[in-house]
Amino acid sequence: MPPAGDTRTRKPIGLTGFMGSGKTTIGRLLAQHLGWHFVDLDTRIEERTGLSIPAIFERLGEPAFREMEFEALERSLGEAAESGRRAVLALGGGTIVQPRSLALLRSAACTLVWLECPVEELLARCATITNRPLFRDEASFRRLYAERLPFYQQADFRVDSTGDPRHVVERILGLGIFERVIA
Ligand code: S3P
Repeated sequence: MPPAGDTRTRKPIGLTGFMGSGKTTIGRLLAQHLGWHFVDLDTRIEERTGLSIPAIFERLGEPAFREMEFEALERSLGEAAESGRRAVLALGGGTIVQPRSLALLRSAACTLVWLECPVEELLARCATITNRPLFRDEASFRRLYAERLPFYQQADFRVDSTGDPRHVVERILGLGIFERVIA
């Protein structure tokens, strides 16, 4: 049970945004700051399957990955609700593009925060990272980014995710999601 008078949101926070937008880094920092539980969806999938995300894409294909992603999300939200633990979830870049994953997040009353970042910076951040099966080349990266924008725009809040991660966390804290409703 929360302490009496503690009326801060108990709803989970879901960080969404394109590959390289900082969901994991920011999510971990934000959770640490708030003293909340942190869940990284991709990590949960990797732990459960014993396979890396690229290996899942390569061996089983994207539809199988999306199925695992949905199940990991369902379990994570279920555990947060059962335990009453507040949680920050770092979603995958494609999670909210899946209608049933988005519906699940909505039914859990998850507050979605979009970590917005210019595509040029995302490209620079991802260029040296090899564990992203959907990062093939610059043209397809830009195309996918453009396709994804309308989905990210459905988030409840958007935050500029450029610059120092600690500043991004401050911007999220400044959104007012965590303020007490009653002083
Ligand atoms: C994906 C993004 C990845 C991972 C998978 C699919 C996507 O997560 O879930 O490779 O569809 O954009 P990150 O956004 O954390 O890289």
